[in-house]
Amino acid sequence: MFPILEKKQLAEAVYSVVVEAPDIARRALAGQFVILRLDETGERFPLTLCDWSAAEGWIRLVLQVVGRSTRKLSLMEAGEGILDLVGPLGRPAEICAGEHVVCVGGGVGIAAIHPICRALREAGNRVTGIIGARTDDLLILEEEMTAVTDELVLTTDDGSRGIAGRVTWALEELLKKDPVDLVIAIGPAIMMKFASAVTRGYDVPTRVSLNSIMLDGTGMCGTCRCEVEGKTRFACVDGPEFDGHAVDWGLLLSRLDQYKEEEEIARSLP
Ligand SMILES: Cc1cc2nc3c(=O)[nH]c(=O)nc-3n(C[C@H](O)[C@H](O)[C@H](O)COP(=O)(O)OP(=O)(O)OC[C@H]3O[C@@H](n4cnc5c(N)ncnc54)[C@H](O)[C@@H]3O)c2cc1C
Ligand code: FES
Repeated sequence: MFPILEKKQLAEAVYSVVVEAPDIARRALAGQFVILRLDETGERFPLTLCDWSAAEGWIRLVLQVVGRSTRKLSLMEAGEGILDLVGPLGRPAEICAGEHVVCVGGGVGIAAIHPICRALREAGNRVTGIIGARTDDLLILEEEMTAVTDELVLTTDDGSRGIAGRVTWALEELLKKDPVDLVIAIGPAIMMKFASAVTRGYDVPTRVSLNSIMLDGTGMCGTCRCEVEGKTRFACVDGPEFDGHAVDWGLLLSRLDQYKEEEEIARSLP
């Protein structure tokens, strides 16, 4: 059992959960994730490591409630325990040095990009962050992101905070005026697809973190398969970070929807 040490609501349907997991915290690297099973009847589902302390033995996960398992976790409280927690899984993010890197986080993807910004900054890069959400109330981790970036640009679709518009628009404006060596984009698949389309026009290498459906997380089941550079890859062991210009986005988007009916049924269960 992995005890929950703290649970906090960050925005509507977005929660931060700190879990005692010393072995995972000791080995965690930016860009990695864990797979959870909340209880005996629970399904396995992945969440990215947003933060951790090797010294204190905890990890922090940030989740958006989208269905049955995330709802169940959001309802758990400090003192309760998670039955299974496997990780850290996936290849860590590639961390370069001495470059100008723009990190784009959309929605709950801001939590996933946070440790990557920190690692890039520690490696001596200039890090510009662009984070966005539909509206001000959904914009999370502004303080934490300010601490790990040289400059932070905020966007909201409705203009309630920062620049009015999408993160991809802010990204394009930045690319027009400032030389950029690398873009890393994490968020909904559709946002990563459009961020990659923008950077292609400026010939800037782009890394994305693929959120394909995962089951075992160890390369055995094939559930997370995706196509990159025309080759089948498993997001859990070959990624989750890939070249955004080489991903087959159509295939990824359709595979994300493949269990819609079953997810709908699960959502209606108590
Ligand atoms: C490597 C990775 C890291 C992720 N990190 C985060 C994170 O830090 N925070 C966060 O809020 N979400 C994260 N996700 C997405 C999260 O795993 C899904 O939102 C969650 O599994 C939904 O489960 P559910 O039962 O609540 O919803 P469901 O109703 O089962 O599904 C809702 C949607 O979530 C996706 N999904 C469902 N099951 C899975 C699964 N087993 N694996 C991946 N996606 C699934 C599908 O697109 C589906 O349409 C990550 C996904 C991946 C692959
Ligand atoms: S989740 Fe099974 S192979 Fe990746």
